[in-house]
Amino acid sequence: MIDFTFSGTMESVLTDTKKNELQEIHDRLYHKTGKGSDFLGWLDWPSTIDPELLGRIQKTADAIRDKADVLVVIGIGGSYLGAKAVLSALSPYFSQEDNGTEILFAGHHVSGEYLKQLLDHLDGKEVMVNVISKSGKTTEPALAFRFLKKYMEDRYGDEAASRIIVTTDAEKGALLNLAKESGYERFVVPDDIGGRYSVFTAVGLLPIAAAGFSVEQLLAGARDAEEAYKELDFERNTAVRYAAVRHYLYTEGYTNEVSAVFEPKLSFVQEWWKQLFGESEGKEGKGIFPASVVFTTDLHSMGQYIQDGMRNLFETFLLVKEAAEDVTVFQADEDGDELNYMAGITLQEFNHVAYRGTSEAHLSGGVPQMSLTVEKLDEFHVGHLLYFYMLSCAYSAYQLGINPFDQPGVEDYKNNIFKLLNKPGY
Ligand code: PA5
Repeated sequence: MIDFTFSGTMESVLTDTKKNELQEIHDRLYHKTGKGSDFLGWLDWPSTIDPELLGRIQKTADAIRDKADVLVVIGIGGSYLGAKAVLSALSPYFSQEDNGTEILFAGHHVSGEYLKQLLDHLDGKEVMVNVISKSGKTTEPALAFRFLKKYMEDRYGDEAASRIIVTTDAEKGALLNLAKESGYERFVVPDDIGGRYSVFTAVGLLPIAAAGFSVEQLLAGARDAEEAYKELDFERNTAVRYAAVRHYLYTEGYTNEVSAVFEPKLSFVQEWWKQLFGESEGKEGKGIFPASVVFTTDLHSMGQYIQDGMRNLFETFLLVKEAAEDVTVFQADEDGDELNYMAGITLQEFNHVAYRGTSEAHLSGGVPQMSLTVEKLDEFHVGHLLYFYMLSCAYSAYQLGINPFDQPGVEDYKNNIFKLLNKPGY
């Protein structure tokens, strides 16, 4: 369970009218009758995933771990951020040498410098590639794959095909055609699961398993959340409480949500969360703008704005109860740095004090707050957290009356680029 707190009173949020509305949303979600309900495959995916598929993912991941020093994962948006978020949250800050397969990403932007240096970095290492694109036609990953494919063919000749794995649609797209022609191993992105909801499919699971993390446990956490938040119990269902407070604050004029963490390895969970909520909700002139900060680092930059800037934002702390490792401030012989008053406290305890101090200061500055607390950062709890967010997002977006599962707004910039590049047909 995610522990949830709100600085205001839940009575003002969960009025009878709101409860009825949320009940209707609940029914629309679980009966699959709401907007975009063709894309609700993720809702019971953790409990219904085909064991055979899971076995194949694990087998392929084991083969990658046997064969490759580096797995290059090519993808963007939902085909990138889920795996990146989980890997960042679970990995130690400084990985050891010989610590299994290194996971590197490509195709999530168009930096020529990055791609050139990535290709240079691969020299002398055993390499495999997992290219991921649901549509199979997104420009950034397609471009990166053009380079990586050539690199692999130049380096491995006929063996290259067995070192490339494609995750894409079952039936359409240029990537699918390429995969079929070249005989690459293939995983399918289910039709009814959109990119930003796909972390528990092969899109996220293969890179995560290839890094050596337990996808069984990740899914067990997601299943735990699926079960825990299925029932609309307004006291206990924290996914619904979070969504209800977001919407309440939005209607009160708080149109920006700042996610704040004290553990830097959560910054990619924040990036994933920003995509999930931003792309799901920002439509039809509506939606909360999701932003993120990492404390205490950003207390020395964005802290000023949060404390004292325009009063249209609320803050949601994402906290972790148990640190995997910690250090304790020790008593120094000479107290030249004047820190002996802190002797005996751990840095996790310091961060907790920083949280309390920050929370009180921002609250007195007029920033409403929520907190979401996870027990610890392991596969189970991260799986639970990501499912929690996906479900909250659906509730949140449905309160705005929009379709949480499409993204019509991202087409405009793409069409402009194609026109500027004289792509045939544009
Ligand atoms: O959430 C989404 O649907 C998007 O962010 C997509 O994941 C992103 O645009 C990449 O699309 P594709 O997987 O088709 O390459």
